[in-house]
Formats: sequence, C-alpha cells, structure tokens
Amino acid sequence: MNKKRVIVTGCNGQLGRAVNREFASDDGYELINTDVTADIKLDITDIDQVISFVREKKPYAVFNCAAYTAVDKQEQDRDLAMKINAIGPRNLAAAASETGAKLIHISTDYVFPGVSDHPLTEFDPVGPVSVYGKTKLAGEDFVRQFAERFYIIRTAWLYGDGHNFARTMLKLAENHDELTVVSDQVGTPTSAKELARCMHKLIETDNYGLFHGTCEGDTNWAVFAEEVLKAAGKNTKVRHVTTEEYTAMNPSSAPRPFYSILDNYMLRLTGGYTFADWHDALAEYFRDGLK
Ligand SMILES: NC(=O)c1ccc[n+]([C@@H]2O[C@H](COP(=O)([O-])OP(=O)(O)OC[C@H]3O[C@@H](n4cnc5c(N)ncnc54)[C@H](OP(=O)(O)O)[C@@H]3O)[C@@H](O)[C@H]2O)c1
Repeated sequence: MNKKRVIVTGCNGQLGRAVNREFASDDGYELINTDVTADIKLDITDIDQVISFVREKKPYAVFNCAAYTAVDKQEQDRDLAMKINAIGPRNLAAAASETGAKLIHISTDYVFPGVSDHPLTEFDPVGPVSVYGKTKLAGEDFVRQFAERFYIIRTAWLYGDGHNFARTMLKLAENHDELTVVSDQVGTPTSAKELARCMHKLIETDNYGLFHGTCEGDTNWAVFAEEVLKAAGKNTKVRHVTTEEYTAMNPSSAPRPFYSILDNYMLRLTGGYTFADWHDALAEYFRDGLK
C-alpha cells in the first residue's frame, strides 16, 4: 500500500508529539518528523531549506506544528517571532503549493482583541494586541496567500506533552499551599490529543479553509487550575485574582485576551469534527499520564 507521507514540523512540541501518537495506529500514513533539534533538522524560517526538503520528500501533506509560543518573551523578540510564526508558514505554504501538498497550519485565539460578548466564529473581526497574536495573524495571512489546499485551525489554551499551564500548576503545587491565578480571562482548555484527532479527520477531506478548533465548554484560568489540581488529587488552594492584580505582581507579562472562547462554527457547519468537552479531555489527559 502506498502510504501518505506527511512532513511534521516542530515534532518535539506538544502538538507534534500528539500528532505522532494519533497517527501511530494508522497504517495509511508515514510521518517524517522534523524540528530545529531533531534527527531530521528542518528550520522552517529558512526558505531554501524548506523548499528543497519538501521537493525531495514530495509529501501528501505538511503539518506545521512548529511555532514560537513563549508569549511574554516575544514582546522583546519581535523579529524572531515574525520569522517563526509568519515567515515559517509562508515558506511551508510556498513549498506545499509548489509540490501539490496539503498544508495544516495551527493558529491561535490571540489573533482576536480579547473582548467580546459572544463566542468568536471564523467570521468575527481579528485584532491582535500582543506580538504573538500579530505574528500568528501574519502567518495565517501568508498561508492564505501562498498555499493552495490548506486548513488553518485556530486553537486555544493547548496542553499536552510539553510546557503548558496544567503542568505548571502541578509543578507549583509541589511546594505551594496556595496558587494565585486569574479568574477574569475566559476560554476553553484544549488537549493536543483532541486537536490531533481533528487534524486526522480533516486531512482525509477536501474540507479546506479556516476553522476554530477548541474543546467544547468554557471556563476561566483559576477554575481550570482547580480542576487540574483536583484531578491530580492535590489539596492546593487557588486564589482567584483579577488580571490587574496579577499584572501588578508580574509586570513583564504580555497583554492577554480576556475573552478567548472560540465557537467551532466552521467545523460544525461542515461536519468537520466535534471536539470533546474540556472536562472529558482533561480526564483523558490524566488517564494518559499527562500526554
Ligand atoms: N500552547 C498553547 O497554549 C497554544 C494555544 C493556541 C495555539 N497554539 C498553537 O498551537 C501550535 C502548537 O503549539 P505547541 O504548544 O505544540 O508548541 P510548542 O510545544 O512550543 O512546540 C513548538 C515546536 O516548534 C519548534 N520550533 C521553534 N522554532 C522552530 C523553527 N524555526 N523551525 C522548526 N521548528 C521550530 C520548537 O522547538 P524549540 O522548543 O526548540 O524552540 C518546538 O519543538 C502552534 O502553532 C501554537 O502557536 C498553542
């Protein structure tokens, strides 16, 4: 059987790992794993490297799981953020369209200004306020401009096998009796496993375009922290604070959206994929050993 070859960029990240687990049981696919530090090195910011690699491998699809995700750090590091989050996807889009490959690119709720009175659909106006959001939006635009067959999936509050909020809470709980967490920012925790399942479903279709892809339901960071601690059997208390209070304690943090609830409207309209409720996805994450 001819396997469908997929180039995975950023394979060492949370989503890269989840994608590998998701496709491990599907004999129809062969994944080529790449990252800046991996056996197969591919720096997505380097146009020559990207074009020649994609030409050589002639993949069925490219999954862009690579990104610069350190939101606070990139406020002082705009050029690198623009290279990884915008020029990287541009390079992949150009290479994919030249070789006829499909492209899945992942974006974020940070493309929105973060104030809304309703769950945000793909048709709501964007307006990023952070460097991360601006560079991710530029990445989306480049994909639209240069790729022919693409799926852009905007996700939010992602956790998996890597650095994320849930693991940070568990780590802090090892030596704190109480954690201080903001409760006036709302959104939906989304497991990398659920996102990888959505990618698996979409890649088999011609259902192209822009999608919101987050777990169902919504919450705030403080309640999410409580659920994580409860699932881990910890008694650690969570002190709910406002963003204003938190920022006074941590002045270097980037502006974060208050409102990040995404409506998976396009997935629903097109029968693309139905994400699990965030409580169920979190329970599965613990069953899987935080992977
Ligand atoms: N994490 C979230 O909460 C969240 C929320 C919304 C959307 N997203 C989006 O979801 C996607 C997956 O995020 P994630 O949490 O899995 O990210 P992650 O864990 O930070 O992984 C990103 C991977 O990309 C690699 N990378 C960085 N620069 C690269 C380059 N120039 N070329 C190739 N690889 C490079 C990183 O390597 P190093 O670690 O060595 O730099 C890392 O292995 C991203 O598009 C992100 O923007 C994430």
